[in-house]
Amino acid sequence: MSDLKSKIDPEKLPRHVAIIMDGNGRWAKKKFLSRIKGHEKGINAVREVVEACRELEIEYLTLYAFSVENWRRPSSEVNALMRLLKNYLVKERDNLLKNGIRLRAIGDLERLPGDVRQTLFKVIDDTKDGDKMTLILALSYGARWEIVKAALRMANDLKDGKIREEEVTPEVFSSYLTTSPYPDPDLLIRTSGELRLSNFLLWQLAYTELYITPTLWPDYTKRDLLEAIRDYQKRERRFGMTSDQITGLHAES
Ligand code: IPE
Ligand code: IPE
Ligand code: MG
Repeated sequence: MSDLKSKIDPEKLPRHVAIIMDGNGRWAKKKFLSRIKGHEKGINAVREVVEACRELEIEYLTLYAFSVENWRRPSSEVNALMRLLKNYLVKERDNLLKNGIRLRAIGDLERLPGDVRQTLFKVIDDTKDGDKMTLILALSYGARWEIVKAALRMANDLKDGKIREEEVTPEVFSSYLTTSPYPDPDLLIRTSGELRLSNFLLWQLAYTELYITPTLWPDYTKRDLLEAIRDYQKRERRFGMTSDQITGLHAES
């Protein structure tokens, strides 16, 4: 682990890592356990990854914990996930505070059960001064929902004359998204091998580096995260330019 850590270039860290935490159900099935046990074990992986990102001094970590489509799962599973979320928030509060981690959330939070929402808002408020890292939980989150909401809000501002049509740019549109306080993710990790985005940050991931690993989320460790970051550091992000242009830019800077 420390060996791998020494191979990470602290100058080329992703500012923002986003993770689609997938595979809890399959992990449990392989062990003849209930899906809920898989979600319970997944919480340990959440702790491990939050700690690892904090140690590495990554500024933003977004975790896709519950999609707007996940409400369609059996109610017993949804209830268990809500209970686990609340427990996690209650148990983790002090640790977040101690480590200077500011908690935030994105998604249709109104749909969360009242007690979960209250706990969430309390921990968000308690940790608001954390300045070492921002942990963003995507809860009841769907990118299409977010984009439609943003479009509506922008349309209202256009109608009210708060902005003019000529002023509308992708940057202005971004400012209407719930993610507007945060930079776009540099690295997206998805566990359990699925090659899809499942309605996660569709707008914000336009130029994000993708890293898919077959590891199931409950088995995910710091080591896996370090491997993903190391892989990310070997890539050349061209943003539409040529490789020569990019290396030239580095030479000039
Ligand atoms: C991810 O694991 C957790 C949530 C979506 C809440 P899954 O529950 O999707 O696990 P699989 O995909 O069935 O293995
Ligand atoms: C995506 O995983 C949502 C989360 C990880 C919270 P899913 O397991 O719900 O995605 P699909 O349905 O397989 O695409
Ligand atoms: Mg899944």
